[in-house]
Amino acid sequence: MKNFLLLVSAAMSLLLATHCQAGGDINAGKIAVEKYGCVACHGADFNTPIDPSYPKLAGQHADYLAHTLVAYQRDFKAPNRRVNAIMNGQAKPLSSKDIQNISAYIHNLPGSLVVRK
Ligand code: HEC
Repeated sequence: MKNFLLLVSAAMSLLLATHCQAGGDINAGKIAVEKYGCVACHGADFNTPIDPSYPKLAGQHADYLAHTLVAYQRDFKAPNRRVNAIMNGQAKPLSSKDIQNISAYIHNLPGSLVVRK
């Protein structure tokens, strides 16, 4: 019985992990970052930004990336808005589907900053 419960719990974790990764379409995200010009500042590999003050994004968690992009989009009166003159403008035209796809794509790129899971 105990082994059965362990197996069920392992299968559920696997399902959850797969589900989280399936949140966005990686190929659509690649097309979107080119369309919106994100690569111009963050680098084609999202690991070589054009300025040292610009963040490296490759490999960051998809939910973290999506969270930041939504925060940049928020109205100036929202309490949990992120204020940055550049990124407020960059995030504005993105649909929520774009954000999911872009976050999945960037998360999937090999990054030098993250501790691998
Ligand atoms: C003109 C240069 C430029 C462009 C183009 C640009 N970014 Fe940024 N990005 C920045 C800068 C600068 C920051 C740091 C902003 C801050 O301090 O909040 C940033 C921050 C971010 C962050 C937050 C990272 C973190 O860990 O806080 C994300 C995510 C992001 N950009 C994604 C994008 C995406 C997606 C696009 C395209 C839609 C894009 N950027 C286009 C310059 C740019």
